[in-house]
Amino acid sequence: MKSTTLWASCLLSSLGVHAHYIFATLSINHGPYSPDWQYIRKPVNPSWTPSGDYSYYPMFDVYSTDIRCGRNATTLGGGVQTATVQAGDHLSVGLSSAVSQVSHGGPGMFYMAKVPEGTKIEEWDADGDWVKIADLGHVEGTRAEWVTDKKSYKSMNVTIPATMPPGKYLLRIEHLFLRTGIKQTNFFVSCAHLEVKGSGGGKPGPTVKFPGAYDDFDLAIWAPLHTQGYWLDDYVTPGPSVWKG
Ligand SMILES: *[C@@H]1O[C@H](CO)[C@@H](O)[C@H](O)[C@H]1NC(C)=O
Ligand SMILES: *[C@@H]1O[C@H](CO)[C@@H](O)[C@H](O)[C@H]1NC(C)=O
Repeated sequence: MKSTTLWASCLLSSLGVHAHYIFATLSINHGPYSPDWQYIRKPVNPSWTPSGDYSYYPMFDVYSTDIRCGRNATTLGGGVQTATVQAGDHLSVGLSSAVSQVSHGGPGMFYMAKVPEGTKIEEWDADGDWVKIADLGHVEGTRAEWVTDKKSYKSMNVTIPATMPPGKYLLRIEHLFLRTGIKQTNFFVSCAHLEVKGSGGGKPGPTVKFPGAYDDFDLAIWAPLHTQGYWLDDYVTPGPSVWKG
């Protein structure tokens, strides 16, 4: 409780600085970006923020159901549209207009989970079997640069595996600001609603659950050796290996 309060006051002191970020827009095959939150569930503000848009504030608790899709987003699918995509399509996710850049170095990841038969995507609580489809870790051939490090980066990109079975999916979009202390790493997570078309044929795996996939003692998360300014070349992102289809 005490540390939560401490963190809340640190974060409050930076209100207005926008040192945080969240992905809210979607572009398919290099097309225009959608408006904010058209295809992506918008997390609620942390309970301690004043009124206004603080949906981009990070989460810290890997054991909460919020880690699936963002704060309260297990119940926030209503009104979110579903984007139709083909397996093999290039997707780019862009920042909410309330923020200007990915302001912290760290890894980015994409996961997908198929909506169960008989469940509406808008009503799904995202308690699925998640497969990781991309890792944006450190830049190969460098020792200290993240793929998403460049301050000018306003997007993260992914290709839907070509053999992804058709159906409705949540696309989990995640970026981490790694900190050296337990429960200090910042999680920026949101989820897009997708309908994947295509001939399928793949068997996505390995899959994980959220919460469940991560723990506080994972060296990829509390990262005493992997924050900015340290060598990153042995850094492996948290969670399962990537399924390429
Ligand atoms: C992602 O793709 C978009 C085009 O769809 C491109 O403008 C952007 O530069 C790419 N972002 C990164 C980080 O490569
Ligand atoms: C978020 O979820 C919590 C816990 O279920 C609930 O108490 C709170 O009212 C929710 N907040 C909003 C803004 O929906």
